[in-house]
Amino acid sequence: MKLVDQKIEKYTKDHTTKSSADIQKLVQKSDRELEHIDMLSGRVVGQLLAMLVKISGAQRVLEIGTFTGCSALKMAEALPRDGKLITCEYNRRYEAIARSGFGSSSHGLKITLKMGPALETIKTFNDPFDLIFLDADKTNYPNYYHAVLPLLKAGGILVIDNVLWEGAVLDPKDEKSQAIDQLNKMIAEDDSVEQVMLTVRDGVTIVRKKEG
Ligand SMILES: C[S@@+](CC[C@H](N)C(=O)[O-])C[C@H]1O[C@@H](n2cnc3c(N)ncnc32)[C@H](O)[C@@H]1O
Repeated sequence: MKLVDQKIEKYTKDHTTKSSADIQKLVQKSDRELEHIDMLSGRVVGQLLAMLVKISGAQRVLEIGTFTGCSALKMAEALPRDGKLITCEYNRRYEAIARSGFGSSSHGLKITLKMGPALETIKTFNDPFDLIFLDADKTNYPNYYHAVLPLLKAGGILVIDNVLWEGAVLDPKDEKSQAIDQLNKMIAEDDSVEQVMLTVRDGVTIVRKKEG
C-alpha cells in the first residue's frame, strides 16, 4: 500500500528545500553503483531531520543505519561547526560509497562511521546524544529502542523511519511488520516519552524523552 498518493509525494518534494549539491552527487553515485536505492529515506525525511537538528540545537547525533550516507550527511550539514554525528553500518559495499560522500563534503569531518552490527556498536557508547535517528534492520526495532533510549538525553529526540511499513502494521503478518508494530505499541505505552507519528513517506515517529 502506498500511504500517500504519488502525485502528492512529488508535490511535497517539489515544495521542500532542495538537497545540497554534495547530497545530490551522493544519491547519483549510489544509484550508479547499486542495483536498488529504495533504502534512502529521501529528500523530505532528510529535510525533516535537518530541521529537527537545527530547531533542537542538537550537537551530538547518532544514526543507526547509514546505507550510503545521505541522511547522515544531511544531518551533518545541519549541525553546528563543532557538532558530531556517529553513524552505524555493517555493509562494506555501502561503507565505501558513504565514506566517499563524507570525504567530498566539508561537513563530512563531523561524521564518524562505525562499522559492525549496530546493537554491538551501541554498547560502546557512554555519552548522551541530543538526537538519534533509527533506520536499520526492522526486526530489531524493539531492541534498538531499549538500547538507545538510555543514551538519549532528557528532552532529546528520537526519530524512527518506516513506522508504517507501507501499511503492513495494520495487519502485521511477517516478522518485520510485527516488530515495527511491537515498537509502535511500546512507544505508545511508554510514559517516559511523548511522541507523534507522521504519515510522511513510509511513516516517521518523532519521540521526545521527557525530563525528570
Ligand atoms: C534503510 S537503510 C538506511 C538509510 C539511510 N539512513 C538513508 O536514509 O540514507 C538501513 C541500513 O541499515 C543497515 N543495517 C541493517 N542492519 C544492520 C545492523 N544490524 N547493523 C548495522 N547496520 C545495519 C543496512 O545495511 C542499511 O544500509
